[in-house]
Amino acid sequence: MLTLGIETSCDETAIAIVENGHKILANLVASSLPLHQQYGGVVPEIATRHHVEVINFVLKKALKKAGVDLKEIDLIAVTYGPGLVGSLLIGISLAKALSLALEVPLVAVNHLRAHLYAVCLEREENIFPFIGLIVSGGHSNLVSCRDIFNWRSLGQTQDDAAGEAYDKVARILNLGYPGGPLIDRLAKKGNPGAIFFPRADLGERLDFSFSGLKTAVLYFVKKQGKEIPIKDIAASFQEAVVDALVNNAWRACQKYRVNKLVIGGGVSANSRLREKLRNIALEKGIRIFLPQLDLCLDNAAMVAGLGYQLYQRDGETKKNLSAEPNLSIERL
Ligand code: KG4
Ligand code: ZN
Repeated sequence: MLTLGIETSCDETAIAIVENGHKILANLVASSLPLHQQYGGVVPEIATRHHVEVINFVLKKALKKAGVDLKEIDLIAVTYGPGLVGSLLIGISLAKALSLALEVPLVAVNHLRAHLYAVCLEREENIFPFIGLIVSGGHSNLVSCRDIFNWRSLGQTQDDAAGEAYDKVARILNLGYPGGPLIDRLAKKGNPGAIFFPRADLGERLDFSFSGLKTAVLYFVKKQGKEIPIKDIAASFQEAVVDALVNNAWRACQKYRVNKLVIGGGVSANSRLREKLRNIALEKGIRIFLPQLDLCLDNAAMVAGLGYQLYQRDGETKKNLSAEPNLSIERL
């Protein structure tokens, strides 16, 4: 069964073709990132217009890459939230049009859940039940995932998301946007123990908080003279973020007696996070599932894959589906 996945929740226009929920035949992403960089963040209007301009072209290229004709597509899967409303609507409009024209079913996919499904691509094994950690530009969520349909939220950020903290600290350090990859690279040359930035103390809860850390970096930078130890700041800030993510994820595994941990979202590309998670997996005897680097960021293969699984159980989603910008992780 061939699923065409469509993802337009933020600044990436992504189309993928996935066979039977696992095998990627094509996975294309056209990003409008360069158009946003001068503003230091994604401008929703610009992102929406860019989706309109390129989506048909990306679709044609994806079909060509997969060696598939549009008539051979069996199912359409599309992200319907969370995300920017204008951007989401472009993907949903294309999905509805294709579903009607080709007379194939349509399923709506939750973007956050799709991020965790990324580890199931190119892998046939059933990895449920597991603890999931989603870390992206807009979200930091810990979830208990019993099977593909039953998910329960265990914790989330109380203020900034992990990726957002990277982006804001990069702005304080005048590095550019997006901050995650830039800080990741710089941190490799710095000493993570050079500066101690505070870790939020939320007691027994499995929530996160990163805005105090961001403010601590801001005050530290303001106190410096002309010479700002930028590499050490990057490494020390990153260590504080990664410590919080790894600690909570491990505590969730312990509390719920689950020995599998799945990570997804843009920040799961972070080299220090990946290293620390691998270490803790070895030390504590848990299994860790990290997406391939190109599947950490927004893509449509994860949407097609999860869409296929949802269709197998529930069949088609209603054709009158609409965008849900604030969709929660607990919804399908
Ligand atoms: O999942 P994603 O592509 O988009 C959202 O759904 O938000 O994540 C983008 C976020 C950005 O905040 C970016 O700074 C962060 O992921 N990011 C990273 C890395 N690569 C991307 N953060 C830390 N280290 C990285 N290597
Ligand atoms: Zn995302």
